[in-house]
Amino acid sequence: MRIATLTSGGDCPGLNAVIRGVVRTAAGRGATVVGYEDGWQGLVEDRRVQLYDDEDIDRILIRGGTILGTGRLKTATFKDSIDLVKANLADAGIDVLIAIGGEGTLKGAQWLHDNGVPVIGVPKTIDNDVNATDYTFGFDTAVAVATDAIDRLHTTAESHNRVMIVQVMGRHVGWIALHAGMAGGAHDILIPEVPFDIDEVCKRMSRRFELGEKYGIIVVAEGAVPKEGTFDIGDRAIDQFGHQKFDDIGAKIAHEIENRLDTDVRSTVLGHIQRGGTPTAFDRVLATRYAVHATKAALRGETGQVVALHGERIELVSFDDAVGHLKVVPQQRIDSVGALIG
Ligand code: F6P
Repeated sequence: MRIATLTSGGDCPGLNAVIRGVVRTAAGRGATVVGYEDGWQGLVEDRRVQLYDDEDIDRILIRGGTILGTGRLKTATFKDSIDLVKANLADAGIDVLIAIGGEGTLKGAQWLHDNGVPVIGVPKTIDNDVNATDYTFGFDTAVAVATDAIDRLHTTAESHNRVMIVQVMGRHVGWIALHAGMAGGAHDILIPEVPFDIDEVCKRMSRRFELGEKYGIIVVAEGAVPKEGTFDIGDRAIDQFGHQKFDDIGAKIAHEIENRLDTDVRSTVLGHIQRGGTPTAFDRVLATRYAVHATKAALRGETGQVVALHGERIELVSFDDAVGHLKVVPQQRIDSVGALIG
């Protein structure tokens, strides 16, 4: 059997661990693996490399990023290229494709499968927003990075009697903000699931100062939005793929708090630092388990599915379950941190 794999969408720590896991599992069962470069683009353009179960592959376990490269391709371009994709896969003798990516990639993978190409999906994203799996790899690393940053901001905030805003990733969901905010002992957490009231945010900060506290830390997910009619954040720019750009909510909140409370406020955007670097042990293990499970399913011919973590178990779920809707922070988790959110 000949397996192909590719990584698509934003990168995240653990992608190389999946590639390694696929190659090693396949090699142990007499199958070979080809990698397509730069996501769907490389598949369309037939840019492929043979992946061998050698020392080089073994060492990528701990490397961030992806040795195959990644990218985004416009949906229309991808769909228009279906004949080319099929021809390229046939030419390379590929029996099954393992597509590693987030919601957008998995939607593409589902479409490809529905159009006659056997595909298995492996969910990745630091945002942890893919439905039907408890965790995506990359999330744990992003939370660790953000928590470390918050820990550091505590000491400088305290020294200067400042309010510090920490903007973390999460366009549509607040998982990173919630977990890093809790782990880092933030005094407020603003997530897209709960539109915030800037009056309340300011009140909570001033209450801290009234109680004699010297500083405050507010973690905000980049996609957090104010309650309608409370605070105008203006229009968000759109990138070439039609995605909204979320680069400055932290600065806007900082400006507003500074004006209203007459206190010193600073904003830090963690940005892509959260996506770079070596994966945590948890992410290496999860990525490897996904890889082993996906490869074994490929060898059994069980395609058209996505690997997922349910409690202790890795299982296969349908594409429909994985991409039907995003996994937002549920009300129970919001309630459990109570006044800290929104
Ligand atoms: O989807 C993961 C993610 O990290 C989002 O949280 C973030 O908004 C986005 O990717 C940024 O991606 P890029 O800057 O690579 O387009």
